[in-house]
This record gives sequence, C-alpha cells and structure tokens, in this order.
Amino acid sequence: MTPHITPPSWIDDALEFCITKTRDNLATLTSFPERTEDGKWIQTKPDQHGWWVGGHWVGLLWLAYAATGDETLAASACDWGKRLLPQLNDQADHDLGFLFELGFILGSNLTGDESLKSPALQAASILSRRFNPRGQFIQAWGALDATPELRGRTIMDTMMNLDLLFWASKETGDAHYAEIATAHARTTLTHHLRPDGSTSHVCDFDLETGAFIKQDTHQGMSGTSCWSRGQAWGVYGFADCYRATGDPIFLNASRRLMVYLWPRLPADLIPFWDYDSPLIPNDVRDSSAASVLASGLLSLASTENDPNLASIWQNRAISILESLWKNYTSRDTGEASLLLHGTRSKPHNLMDHGLIYGDYYFVEALMRLAKPTLNL
Ligand code: GLY
Repeated sequence: MTPHITPPSWIDDALEFCITKTRDNLATLTSFPERTEDGKWIQTKPDQHGWWVGGHWVGLLWLAYAATGDETLAASACDWGKRLLPQLNDQADHDLGFLFELGFILGSNLTGDESLKSPALQAASILSRRFNPRGQFIQAWGALDATPELRGRTIMDTMMNLDLLFWASKETGDAHYAEIATAHARTTLTHHLRPDGSTSHVCDFDLETGAFIKQDTHQGMSGTSCWSRGQAWGVYGFADCYRATGDPIFLNASRRLMVYLWPRLPADLIPFWDYDSPLIPNDVRDSSAASVLASGLLSLASTENDPNLASIWQNRAISILESLWKNYTSRDTGEASLLLHGTRSKPHNLMDHGLIYGDYYFVEALMRLAKPTLNL
C-alpha cells in the first residue's frame, strides 16, 4: 500500500519542464525518438514502426495529457499510436508489452476509450505465441522460425512485457495469458536470479528439451555481471507480477534485487551501466536504469505488504528522482531529451546520451507521485 505523503515541491517544476520539452519535441519529430546524438533525437526508420521504443513516446504523450488535461495531447497520442499498428503484423520481437501497454492500455485507462483496448488484445495474443512450453519461457528475440539459438533465449527485459498478458486475462477471462506470464516469471526467477540477488541479462536454453544452458549477456559486461537496466527491469517487473498474482515469491524477488543493488549505487544514486564494471567510478552511468528503478520502486511500494518497507521503497524512489531532476535533466542545456547520461549499450558503443525510455519512466514516476489517484 503506497504510504500517503505530500509530494516534494520540486516535482511540479520537474513535471512542467518535462511537459514543455515534450510539446517542443512533438512539434519537431517526424518519426519516433530513440536516443540523442549531439543533443538531437535519432529517430527510428519509418519501416520500423516505432521499433521497441515507440510505445514510450506515445506513453509520454498520454502522461503529458494526464498532467495537463490538454485534449490536443490525447489526440497526438492517438495519432502516434496508430503508427505502431503495423507491428501487429510483424511478430519478430517480445516487446509488444512496451509498445501496446504504454501506447494503448494507458490511453484507454486515462480516457475511458474502449476502442484502444482492441490492438492491445491482439498484441497479447501475438506475444502468447512466443511461449515455449518445454522451457516455460517467452522467446525474446527473432521470429518464431529464427535460429535455435535465438529461439532459446530469454532476457530480463521481458519481465516488463508480462503485464500485457495479465491484463489480457482480466479483459478476456482467458487464464492462459496469465498462466504463461506467471510461468515465464518463475523461469526468470529460477535462472536469471543469482543467490546474491543480482541478475544476468540473458539466459540460453535448449530449444528442444527446454533445459537451461547458461547465463549470458547482450548489453551487460558479461554473462556473470549485473547489467543495471536489466536489474531495474527486474525490480519493476517482479513487483508487477506480485500485484497480478499475489504470489509472495515475486515480491521477494523484487526485494532481493533491491538488496543487491542499493549498496552498490554511487552517492548520487544513479547506477553505472553495469554494477560489475572494473572501471567504476570512472565509467558511464545509465540514467534510464535510474528512472526505471524509481518508477519500479513506486510500483513496489504500492503493492508491498510490509508498511515499513513500502515507506523505504517510496523514499528511495523520491531520492533517485530528486537526483535525476537536479543533476541529470537537460534543463540548462538545449538537448532534446529530458534526461542526459543514459546508456543504450556500452558493448555496442552507445552511451552517454538521452534515451526515450529513460524519459518515459522519469515522467511516469513523477506522475505516480504527483497524481496517485490515477493508478498509473
Ligand atoms: N529492452 C531493451 C533495453 O533495455 O535496452
């Protein structure tokens, strides 16, 4: 249960800054923003239909609408959301939750427009086809006839796509969606989570037998390291799984990830890109890992059954957000993103830039504090 607090006064200033910049971006973007280079958005190619990040931009527009009541922002969110729809014909990825939960379910919840649910139900149906019953996991990347290696891969990020399935079960009465989401979360818990509470980004399974092969990585430092955004996806995703299922193993998982990461944060609470980097403290941060973590902590606080812990999660979220607002926003620069110093993937040489998902979760967390009755 979220403890009742008066939101800190800087939250209104932070939200005003975010909404003004989002309006500016809306006036200039022609395709979906992904990351910044030299302070300007790199936009996804038109034939990518938003890639995995389009839902974050549409979601940001929905949040800006919720913050202001400005109907033109809701209309823009609807228009941009339509540009995601071709992804319902291209079943090459697990990220349908990011796309259609933020692009459509959020809009439906905020406006009451039932028609926005239909694409999200289609997305849940497509996502459910990626479930491997032998391994009890959802295939992360590649088409359903991709290489055996790809078809046998799971990633921490998928934890964020499960809420689409839980929602679909509630909407349709079909328990299958929730069953596969729960099974995938259990598999993640068993194989990605290590005894010390850290997580691997990737796990590989034998496609035919479903047997676990090894922990691995794609965007982290190594198969034995802990990639900070993956750990944040886990805190958030396991908290949502606990809310959906009531199974305490998921609440404990979210808490355990926090036990690992909290003492490893630097003084300003913004994680380095990988908790195991030997270059720390002279390495790049990932502000998106911080904003995902802050919003995930507010989700955890709202479902936590121990009131003392709920207060701790909420206070930690506020501290992270204050640090982001004071030291990591673009407010004194001309940069197009809201947050600076994100890291898409250091192994791919993509770091120290703005990221649209970092921006989305920053505003989502601010809105969770500023407007708790919206149940975001
Ligand atoms: N889901 C991809 C990422 O976190 O970069």
